[in-house]
Amino acid sequence: MKTLFAKASAALGVLALSVSIHAATSDEAIIERIKPVGSVCLQGDESCGTAAAAAAGGARSGADIVAQACAGCHNAGVLGAPKTGTGDWAARLDEKGLDMLVTNAINGIGNMPARGTCGDCSDDEIKLAIEDMIANSQ
Ligand code: HEC
Repeated sequence: MKTLFAKASAALGVLALSVSIHAATSDEAIIERIKPVGSVCLQGDESCGTAAAAAAGGARSGADIVAQACAGCHNAGVLGAPKTGTGDWAARLDEKGLDMLVTNAINGIGNMPARGTCGDCSDDEIKLAIEDMIANSQ
């Protein structure tokens, strides 16, 4: 009887522990949700990353995505990537149309990795990024 009680209370202890862990997580989630939208972020502060912006619901612009994920290859034309600021983009656009370019960027094509390695980019963000590179090439 004594051991049964010990087992039962150990089980309860585990239950209580998991409940409190859960409570801590949702407290953090609530703090994240209600924190001010325009919180100040100093240069070099790691909390200013794009993940924080995404968590706070801050939309990233096409230029943000390009700077973060695309410019590394597309500014210099690495591995045959259409080079931003040249006629490369107009040629692709004429040949394939915007929808096809977006689909190929999402799925990857040739040496172009799927989503340009931006794993957390939505389809819309990929499209915005392409439009930004095209706009900067005219
Ligand atoms: C690792 C280098 C690399 C990165 C990073 C990269 N690209 Fe590319 N991209 C390429 C290469 C290489 C091609 C040419 C592929 C081909 O035509 O074979 C290409 C082609 C493209 C094309 C043309 C596709 C077509 O059908 O002609 C689009 C659109 C594109 N990239 C968008 C993006 C976007 C948007 C990002 C960032 C989110 C990005 N790329 C990041 C290398 C890269």
